[in-house]
Amino acid sequence: MNFQKILKVHNIVEARVGIKEWMVPSASTDRPWLAEGEEKRLLVRQMFAEIAPTYDVCNSIMSLRLHARWRRAAVRALNLKKGARVLDACCGTGDFFPPLREAIGPTGKLFGFDFCLPMLTRSALKDQSSFRGLGDACRSPYQDGSFDAVTVGWGIRNVPDIDAAHREAFRTLKSGGRFVSIDMARPKNPVIRASSHFIFGNLVPLLGKLFRVERAYKYLPESTERFMTREQLSESMGKAGFVEISTKDFFMGTICMHLGVKP
Ligand SMILES: C[S@@+](CC[C@H](N)C(=O)[O-])C[C@H]1O[C@@H](n2cnc3c(N)ncnc32)[C@H](O)[C@@H]1O
Repeated sequence: MNFQKILKVHNIVEARVGIKEWMVPSASTDRPWLAEGEEKRLLVRQMFAEIAPTYDVCNSIMSLRLHARWRRAAVRALNLKKGARVLDACCGTGDFFPPLREAIGPTGKLFGFDFCLPMLTRSALKDQSSFRGLGDACRSPYQDGSFDAVTVGWGIRNVPDIDAAHREAFRTLKSGGRFVSIDMARPKNPVIRASSHFIFGNLVPLLGKLFRVERAYKYLPESTERFMTREQLSESMGKAGFVEISTKDFFMGTICMHLGVKP
């Protein structure tokens, strides 16, 4: 099937570049968490293409199905009105779509984009009336001031330039619009931190072994260890222009939500 046909079959509305840009090259390292810049971009895309078929089931097991609750909390923080226009960046298989749709109602406009086609094609099942496109969070395919809210779920950790992704979220928001990002975090309490380090470092890779995607599930604990702190993420959001920046922890501080407003 050719590229345009794949986009049509999966009702993917936008692709501003051709298939070559979206082809997944073969891996050049077995330690993608050490990659930076363009190499990180390519390796992360390849990794998600690999785990796309089992992403939803692994996500539910690892979060004990609590991820849906955290997403609902994030959507509540956006104070959305019926009919609002929202964008889910790095939307993956579209797990943010159902709570967002519930908040904006049938008249709302829901957009989602991701740079990994195998993840994106699975998102149609979560909200058939959403507008879904291929795109990179560091150069968002949408115009300035397009949205009342922008969400990112477990995506910011994976982008090669976090400052650029925050700037793009800010740029595409309307004045007064809200941004929320949820991702992994390092617990502040040293005891919880040590136990979560043990659990993540051992159980998550075991799950990867079970689903034969070992490298990808080693990436989760390794990339979390190297991820920006809560304070660094807030600072990056502040540099992008966000105000009223706040954070909220979930799951004993292993998950953290960042919220910001465009003045
Ligand atoms: C852990 S998954 C999260 C998917 C979804 N947001 C969720 O909450 O389940 C991370 C997603 O971010 C996407 N991603 C990573 N870097 C990206 C980038 N620079 N631009 C667009 N998508 C990106 C990956 O392809 C993947 O689908």
